[in-house]
Amino acid sequence: MTVHTTPVALVGLGSYLPPQRITNEALCERLDTTDEWITTRTGIRSRHWAGPGVATGDLAVEAGHRALKSAGLEAGPGAVDLVVLATTTPDNPCPATSPDVAARLGLGPVAAYDIAAVCSGFIYALAAASAHIVAGQAQRALVIGAETYSTILNPADRTTNVIFGDGAGAVVLSAAPDSDRPGLLLDLDLGSDGTGRDLITIPAGGSRQRATTPEPDADDCYFTMQGKQVFTQAVNRMTASSQTVLDRLGWGAGEVDWLVGHQANVRILNAVARGLGIPAERAVVNLDRVGNTSAASIPLALADAAASGALTPGARVLLTAFGGGLTWGSAALTWPDIVPV
Ligand code: COA
Repeated sequence: MTVHTTPVALVGLGSYLPPQRITNEALCERLDTTDEWITTRTGIRSRHWAGPGVATGDLAVEAGHRALKSAGLEAGPGAVDLVVLATTTPDNPCPATSPDVAARLGLGPVAAYDIAAVCSGFIYALAAASAHIVAGQAQRALVIGAETYSTILNPADRTTNVIFGDGAGAVVLSAAPDSDRPGLLLDLDLGSDGTGRDLITIPAGGSRQRATTPEPDADDCYFTMQGKQVFTQAVNRMTASSQTVLDRLGWGAGEVDWLVGHQANVRILNAVARGLGIPAERAVVNLDRVGNTSAASIPLALADAAASGALTPGARVLLTAFGGGLTWGSAALTWPDIVPV
């Protein structure tokens, strides 16, 4: 699916990580794994996990506050007229988390809804919010990716425990009548393939295998993933979707200043960069410090790259993500002149 978003700009960026840092060494104390395996197979050295009682909405509020501040907006009525929150780990199965986040930010009676596209969620949320702006239904939107995967990991599953982290990132999108300023969203590509639904899933707790009666097997209540198949799909889908965007914009690989891919595994990021002909040095990597934060992954990587000074105003940025569903998506933009918070 193609979404043309010419008059929409990114005008603010905020991020938040819960303070508790979990090192590879800490995981080795309770799981049959090694720092060497985790580092060489994934590139991850540590991740942050929210403590007991901390929910996804709590992280989303923090990141939302910061993104509004970065956009020069006070959290309060009229700051934005839409909140879209991408998450796999909502505060409750019902209702959505975003209305509560909007209320806690004091945003007034704005439209607010959640998006469930797993690790592609942030790109889907960008597409949804920018489409509302293009249609004239909103002037400014707060787009948040927030996750607490630590709440859905099977404590006995070494494959998922070493990979996933918690965190939140948010951007403010705005209608952009001044199309000469950097920050414009230039193109978006989205896709899905539901035949791969079982590769990434929480089998129980929905309407197909209910959380109540008959009581599900405890393992079915946790996040599960077929790592090897996901790896191949992630490389192929992100590469193809990115190439679609590049072709439509007429950009060669040399015109991409920064590739900001979903931070799943450094070997996946390198393979996507290689497939597109983009040097690995131009692929943003922060997964060594945060792990795979699913829907929060792209905005956290953007915040990291902006804070390090890598992203400069006018830089051409290509975003790409892949996740459960299966889903995938890519977006291109020029980097705005903003200070992330
Ligand atoms: N520590 C030590 N060994 C582990 C391990 C861990 N944490 N996790 C798995 N292994 C073992 C496996 O049991 C297997 O052992 P075996 O050969 O005796 O059967 C061996 O390591 C190789 O497993 P495999 O799954 O083939 O490894 P891999 O190179 O594919 O790496 C992933 C596994 C999960 C890191 C990799 O497939 C991956 O990153 N997939 C994508 C994950 C992702 O990000 N998904 C989210 C949505 S995008």
